[in-house]
Amino acid sequence: MKQDKQLIVIFGATGDLAKRKLLPALLRLLRRGELGAATPIVCLGRKDLATAQYFEWLQMERFLPDDEPEVLQRFARLLHYRRFDLESGTDQCLREILASFADVFAAGNMLFYLALPTDTFTAVARLLKPLLQGPGWKRVVFEKPFGSDLPSAERLNAVISSAMNEEQIFRVDHYLGKELVQNILFLRFANEIFCCSWNRDAIDNVQITVSETLGVEERAGYYDGSGAIRDMLQNHLLQLLSFTAMEPPGSGSSDAIRDEAARVLEKLRRPMAEDVVVGQYGGGAVGDQVIRPYVQEDGVPADSSTETYVAVRAFVDTPRWQDVPFYLRTGKRLDRRYAEIRIIFKQHRCDGMVRNDKPNMIVIRIQPDEGIALAFNVRRPGSENESESVLMDFCHHCHFGPNTPEAYEAIMASVMRGDPLLFTRWDWLQASWRYIDQLRAVMPTVAVYQPGTSGPAEADELLRIDGRSWLQPMSE
Ligand code: BG6
Repeated sequence: MKQDKQLIVIFGATGDLAKRKLLPALLRLLRRGELGAATPIVCLGRKDLATAQYFEWLQMERFLPDDEPEVLQRFARLLHYRRFDLESGTDQCLREILASFADVFAAGNMLFYLALPTDTFTAVARLLKPLLQGPGWKRVVFEKPFGSDLPSAERLNAVISSAMNEEQIFRVDHYLGKELVQNILFLRFANEIFCCSWNRDAIDNVQITVSETLGVEERAGYYDGSGAIRDMLQNHLLQLLSFTAMEPPGSGSSDAIRDEAARVLEKLRRPMAEDVVVGQYGGGAVGDQVIRPYVQEDGVPADSSTETYVAVRAFVDTPRWQDVPFYLRTGKRLDRRYAEIRIIFKQHRCDGMVRNDKPNMIVIRIQPDEGIALAFNVRRPGSENESESVLMDFCHHCHFGPNTPEAYEAIMASVMRGDPLLFTRWDWLQASWRYIDQLRAVMPTVAVYQPGTSGPAEADELLRIDGRSWLQPMSE
């Protein structure tokens, strides 16, 4: 649904997130007709630039697709760069900037996107408070990280909640905008064959992997204080776990779904030291690339013990999942970039007639080749009772075409619609931080791993002692 009278305000408009993700997403929404042609996008940054210079800079950085010059021109007309310094800017200055878009401002529909570091959130929330009254809707979007532990998240939430109400707050986890993540609930609850076997009677274990090949890049300042547990596990991986493990929501409403997602985290068993492995990438050669060890990356202290890899064994203590391990892992500088959820079924519950049967498996491929695969056994031709595991493989872009909305398009479109489903609710966050704080309290020392591998050997051991192993991505 397209909103015509609305103002989009981006704080941090010269930052990475704005140029790489937000503005390209808005351009694509405009191209698809989902962004009103008269929607001013007010880009606020510290640099002293005219709008034309800002647009030139965006083009020079080559993040705006230029294959359709006509769309690009229309997009350029929506952009308005204004200098706004958070330290000296007042709510009055901000009001004046916004009021210059007279009739849209008067209609009162405003989306504020905080593409800013988390330590500015409270200041911006206070600044916005007087603007969040009056006619129309006001929505404020907060990027992660939302706090660094439970007490800091609670403090942040208290300040934000005193400036706006929960319906105005949109806390981003961009994994929720990914097409195949949104599909988890469809796979589970729109398919009779899966919904009946999605439980401990049929499922042996679940493996959730988000593997990255990139290192810390230019983000050491943030990343070294965060590490893989807070950067990835607390948000993206726990969201994947919640959707995979939740009970059927009573309805399709955002609140019913978010109620069940939060309940999963509330039921997470307190982790023990033997449930977690952390690692940090060392140096080495990957192909013809020489990789510096994490501790020699620009901006990383030489004695840093920040983890760039984490693997966890988690249990959801509900009747559906009692004692079924959920193995979660994520890391940087690994051998390949992919994200997937693997549901591995129990074996040998049938009559033992065949040989070589492998466990059935459902693989939800979140990226890069979005799809869902089902592994099952068939008779090997010419044999008496030998089976072979084969795949039924649904390829998302082969079926729906290559133009699936990217995560940030889905996120932007949802905020404009006012649909909170793709955003993190406070109770979910609270439960996630509670678990993460427990985990960090028992975290062992980091094991150094070779770049370009699947992570530290200790992570293999985590499964080996359970008689299991990590399964490789489907494309192998
Ligand atoms: C971000 C993390 O939230 O997600 C990054 O801060 C990480 O460290 C990124 O690289 C991964 O997102 P995606 O969409 O590329 O898998």
